[in-house]
Amino acid sequence: MSEKKVILKASDLSKTFSNDTVQQHVLKNLNLSVYKGDFTVIMGNSGSGKSTLLYSLSGMDRPTIGTITYYTGNEPDTEVTEISKFSNDKLAVFRRDHVGFVFQQNYLNDSMSALDNIMVCGLLRNKDRKALAEKAKTLLKKVEIGEGDWDKFPTQMSGGQQQRVAVVRGVINSPEVLFADEPTGALNSQNTENVLNILSELNSEGQSIVMVTHTLAAAERGSRIIYLADGVIFNEIELGPYLGDYRDQNNPNLDKARARHVMLKNFLQDMGW
Ligand SMILES: Nc1ncnc2c1ncn2[C@@H]1O[C@H](COP(=O)(O)OP(=O)(O)OP(=O)(O)O)[C@@H](O)[C@H]1O
Ligand SMILES: [Mg+2]
Repeated sequence: MSEKKVILKASDLSKTFSNDTVQQHVLKNLNLSVYKGDFTVIMGNSGSGKSTLLYSLSGMDRPTIGTITYYTGNEPDTEVTEISKFSNDKLAVFRRDHVGFVFQQNYLNDSMSALDNIMVCGLLRNKDRKALAEKAKTLLKKVEIGEGDWDKFPTQMSGGQQQRVAVVRGVINSPEVLFADEPTGALNSQNTENVLNILSELNSEGQSIVMVTHTLAAAERGSRIIYLADGVIFNEIELGPYLGDYRDQNNPNLDKARARHVMLKNFLQDMGW
């Protein structure tokens, strides 16, 4: 098997929040490499620093100490970019060109149609409106949002549909890494399954994903699970690619999927999860 390529590396990362009286050390000298094509999942108790780590890695926020280095583009023209000291403006441009986001709340603009929510994001990078619309429509179809729904406003769509639109918006600029912070946290179980299926599909096509989650069902989609405790990486496990539903009798990989599920469950049990 060929060696995995690092796409993003955090070195000696610390994040401290301060007010007049107290300093809270949320991330503590953390080191992490994220690999291209991986579906990296970040777990850990509430308050362990998962979102803070995601925001530092993605350039949504800057670490207090340490570096975040991206290795983008294809060899031999890999571009090395250290973003941790970037100004807000430079970070915004970097995010536009290299990363995508999906949050627990979809943060769609309620005064725009589903399609326009995606177009607005895409036009920041791609000025070819026609090509962009084609790409947006192809992606919408892929997440099973049909033509009849493209002109709907978010309030006219179900929570699951809205989140699928938000996933399309997250990948419209073909980001090198898609970040997701509890993307199914506000969804019912059927919609959760739909959104997770889409993330799995994108990952199987090569999309690198870093996702924070609280749930076993979402973590199961990951190829690598990082467990945070109190601002440090406490442990991690490599699961390899998702092998489908371990409960589905028609799954051709059923035995392996079950073994994978048990491995993850045991790991999380060991973490006291
Ligand atoms: N902007 C901020 N200002 C001050 N403190 C913050 C800020 N953001 C996060 N914190 C604190 O940092 C700690 C870690 O927060 P973080 O949101 O990273 O946790 P989390 O692991 O994502 O938790 P959850 O599972 O509840 O989402 C918490 O104690 C939180 O109060
Ligand atoms: Mg969080």
